[in-house]
This record gives sequence, C-alpha cells and structure tokens, in this order.
Amino acid sequence: MGVKIQAVKGMNDILPVAGKDSVWTTADWLAFEEIAHKWLAQYGYKNIRTPMIEPTGLFVRSIGTDTDVVGKEMYTFDDYGESLSLRPEGTASCLRAVVEHNLLYNSPQKLWYMGAMFRHEKPQKGRYRQFHQIGVEALGYAGADTDAEIIAMCFDLWQKLGIQNCVQLEINCLGNREERAAHRTALVEYLKRHENQLDEDSRRRMVTNPLRVLDSKNPAMQEIAENAPKLSDYLGSGSLKHYNALQNILNSLDIPFVENHRLVRGLDYYNSTVFEWTTDKLGAQGTICGGGRYDGLIEELGGKPTPSIGFAIGIERLLLLVKSHGNLKIDNSPDIYAMYQGETAQPHLMRAVQNLRHAGFSVLTHGADQKLATQFKKADASGAKFALIVAENEVLSGSLTVKNLQTGEQVSLSPNEVINQLNQWSM
Ligand code: HAM
Repeated sequence: MGVKIQAVKGMNDILPVAGKDSVWTTADWLAFEEIAHKWLAQYGYKNIRTPMIEPTGLFVRSIGTDTDVVGKEMYTFDDYGESLSLRPEGTASCLRAVVEHNLLYNSPQKLWYMGAMFRHEKPQKGRYRQFHQIGVEALGYAGADTDAEIIAMCFDLWQKLGIQNCVQLEINCLGNREERAAHRTALVEYLKRHENQLDEDSRRRMVTNPLRVLDSKNPAMQEIAENAPKLSDYLGSGSLKHYNALQNILNSLDIPFVENHRLVRGLDYYNSTVFEWTTDKLGAQGTICGGGRYDGLIEELGGKPTPSIGFAIGIERLLLLVKSHGNLKIDNSPDIYAMYQGETAQPHLMRAVQNLRHAGFSVLTHGADQKLATQFKKADASGAKFALIVAENEVLSGSLTVKNLQTGEQVSLSPNEVINQLNQWSM
C-alpha cells in the first residue's frame, strides 16, 4: 500500500460530514452561500470572478510592500520569467479586472466575489493558509451613505445568521493623504522618543509603516500606542464631515459601534472610513470582517479617480461563530427515499422516481436490491419524509406504494394519485 498523502498544512478539505478538525460541512457552506446570494441581490450587487493567480506587481502596488501580507505571506513563484502570486485577498484582483475591462466607463459598479485566498500564515483555529472570503466593492460612490449602507449590509447578514449579539463594530477615520502625512511626522517623532521601549517589530515598522505600530498586538506596546499622537487630531473639515455623517446614519439605523482610533487595517490602500467586525468568541482570530474606503486605489491601478469602499468577510471564521453561537437552517434531507425489491421492479421504480423529481420532489434512491427492513433503516437515517416502495406486487398492478415515515400511514396508488397524496402529506 502506498503512503497516504495529506493536504497542505493550513489548507482544509470541506466534507459532506463534519471532520476531526472541521466543525462545518459542505451543507453548512451551501446553506450559507444560499443566504449570501439572496442577501447580495437585495443590495444590488453583481458577481465578479477573477483568476486566483495574478502578476505579483498588482499586490505590491495595491496592498503595499511594507505590509505583512505582501512582505511575508504571499505565495509567489516564477512562471517562466514572470513573477506571479496566489491572491491573498480579492480587492486588488477585482479592481484590476474593472480597470482592464473599463467597467466604470459610464456608471458606478457594485460588485461581489467569493473564493479562496492564500496567505502563508502560521495556521491555528480561524487562521488558515487557504481561506475563503466573500467581499463586496462599491466603486464610484463618494458619500457617507454608501459607507453606512455596506456596514448596515453586514449587520443584516449577522441578523440573518443569528450572531448579531456576538459581534462588535469598530470604526475609524484614516483621513486623506496630507492628513496622514502630517500625523505620520508627529507619530515618528513620538516613536523615536520611545525607541528604547519598542519591540523589534515596532522598531522596524517605525521606519516602514509607523501607523501599524498603533495596532501592535504586543501588550507591552499598548500603552505607547495609546499615548501616541492620534490621527483624529489631524483630520481636516472634509474628513470630519464625512466621518460624522457616517456616525449619524449608523445611529439612525440603530447599529451600535465603537470608535477605535488605533484601528488602521493591515493593507496600505485605505483612507477615510475603515471598520472591522470583531467577536470575543473565537479566541485570537476574532476579526470576522474588515473593510474601508480606498479612494485612490483605482487611479493607482491605471483607472480614473474613483472613490470606492468595500469589505471582506472571512467565511471560515464566520461559520465557526455561526456554528457555535448562531443558526444556519440546513435541510438537505430528501423528500422521498426510493427502494425496490426484485430486478423487474428496477425500471418501474426509476420511471416513478424521475416523474416525482419532475413534479418537484427530491428523491434519494437506495440503489441496491436489499431486504426492505434494511432499506427502511437507511430511509430513516436519511431524514426523508416519505418512502417509495416498488416490489413485484406494484409491478403487476402498475401501482406505487408510498409510506409517510412520520405518521406510518402507507398506501398503494396509481402514479398520478401518488403525486397528489405526497402533496397532501406535505401540506
Ligand atoms: P483583510 O482584513 O485582510 O481585508 O481580510 C478580511 C477578512 O478575511 C478578515 O477579517 C478575516 O475574517 C479573513 N481572513 C484574513 N486572513 C485570514 C486567514 N489567514 N485565515 C482565515 N481568515 C482570514 C481584506 O482582505 C480586504 N480586501 C477587505 C476589503 C475589501 N477592503 C475593501 N474591500
């Protein structure tokens, strides 16, 4: 026997049954996707699908070289002289496609995507090397109403999934380029004064990306970060007006939020509004959704200046939370479990099964000529509401036998009458 080959560390199989290291099944994913598709349509978003591999330069230019994602976590390889990377997130690819195909030439766009993303992080619960995001991008919308709408959209989804009481919304305003530059000068001066107290990571970031020192996870850095110059003190009237308008709309929609002036996000393309939805129910990996404005990014990628905002949800983290604290209604049991006895019954049963499917019923066939008692056991285990039985008697009389597995009632009827009977039982 050959040696078994295992999946790559941090990359998970999703199976029809819950596995030793996965709490969710493909049925959970499908149920979530069904809810998500309806939810996205309610807000007028259209689907976009882009390749999983892009030129490395796309991510370097959009996410930024000094970020962990590009600096440390990308799966990058040489493809006959061209540097390519597995996408670590969806925004850059979405915008690359929008610019390439000129989708914004006469109207703004509201787009959504879903799929696998890849980051070479240390795997743990809620953090994987291949994970899935569902994300939206509203391109060509400058107003705070759009910021509020996409946040409300998240809140709506949490309500549909029953986790609205387990999550917290944090918001911040990162201002514009000039405001950030003025703050950066003050921040670097402050950090230099405290350089001997900084950890190695923060000392490096002080030079490459000082704003990220503010969201250091090291508890020893918290006090320094807390007392650092605040970006909010450097915001001009335009940024403040936008930020206040967002807060007013959130209040009018009864969406609770907290302001976190140290929320800076881990990707370089953001300005103005940024937000995260976090939970304390998942341990260290508590951010289930993150997003914000990136008004300069489309221009940076070769398009016209287009104010835009979006977010992405980590589906694994979301489903971990939904499975432990929310609800996902899954009913993937068949309406009917179909069984036969004797070879002559086979074609008779298959014709009946196809007719029932055409009449709108879902039917699981047992698929073997076994004792009826065995087949009934499997029917019960499948969760089916009804059993369809075809044996020699039914073949001879041209009838079908159906049993209501909930009440035990059993009748033999003509094929047409069976459909009426099943419809009646289903009411
Ligand atoms: P992000 O904060 O890097 O933002 O990722 C969004 C979400 O993806 C996180 O909040 C988390 O739930 C999930 N996630 C990230 N890394 C992992 C991982 N290694 N394992 C499991 N889940 C993970 C973005 O990606 C931006 N593109 C969001 C955005 C869209 N901003 C504007 N538009």
